[in-house]
Amino acid sequence: MNLRNATALITGGSSGIGRAIAQTLASSGARVAITGRDRGRLTETALALKALPIVADVANEADVERTYQELFKAFGELDILVNNAGVGVFKNLVEFDRSSFESVFATNVTGAMLMAREAAKHFIARQRGNIVNIASTAGLRGAPNGTAYYASKFALRGMTECWRAELRRYNIRVFLINPSEVLTNFFATAGLSQKENPTKLRGEEIAYMVKAALEMDDRGFTPELSIFATNPKD
Ligand SMILES: NC(=O)c1ccc[n+]([C@@H]2O[C@H](COP(=O)([O-])OP(=O)(O)OC[C@H]3O[C@@H](n4cnc5c(N)ncnc54)[C@H](OP(=O)(O)O)[C@@H]3O)[C@@H](O)[C@H]2O)c1
Repeated sequence: MNLRNATALITGGSSGIGRAIAQTLASSGARVAITGRDRGRLTETALALKALPIVADVANEADVERTYQELFKAFGELDILVNNAGVGVFKNLVEFDRSSFESVFATNVTGAMLMAREAAKHFIARQRGNIVNIASTAGLRGAPNGTAYYASKFALRGMTECWRAELRRYNIRVFLINPSEVLTNFFATAGLSQKENPTKLRGEEIAYMVKAALEMDDRGFTPELSIFATNPKD
């Protein structure tokens, strides 16, 4: 597809990987809307990127419906949804509390489903569209403390396969992107430390692959991309 004048909606576009994707698509000529819950950070990013800010929680169904109302009022149409908003809680199985577990699934799984459902209605009517799901290499194998986060990314990967099977007949491309560790606020937000190291991936590398995947002619698509740092040092 040609990104010039395309319209893109990026959840969690105020920080990290989502912000880098928003910046890259905007630099390619797309009109970009970004969502997030923290109004201050969202507004600041939107001003810097000349993007449309929509303060919304993907886990809140009323917020999701309002997101599309605001988007269509401003842009009139949508070509690309990037389901990027995500959070992590990392604990041993025996220490996991139900509310932390459910909060991870609410954003990473239910939120992605609600956002994709509303986009898919529009894409089916137009007989075209793109859904990019930002999963993780955590969706490819398990690890200690990964009960909620890793399982949520396995679930996102599973939903991606279902949506792809359902939506291809409407010319809708559904992509899965699996970054390995990226330098962002994600770990700090989860209460973990992350060593800053120039050998690790940045949001820009993920954004580069999202752009490349989208720019392939609409007759084709790559179903799944994993992105690794070449020689990461901790
Ligand atoms: N960093 C990594 O190593 C890594 C690796 C693989 C995959 N990923 C995935 O990449 C995605 C982006 O993460 P990141 O590393 O860029 O983290 P980040 O810098 O913490 O950004 C997360 C973004 O999501 C937003 N967000 C979180 N919960 C939300 C909700 N319920 N509704 C709307 N927005 C919400 C945040 O804004 P608010 O808090 O203001 O809502 C923020 O804009 C996530 O899905 C993550 O799982 C990250």
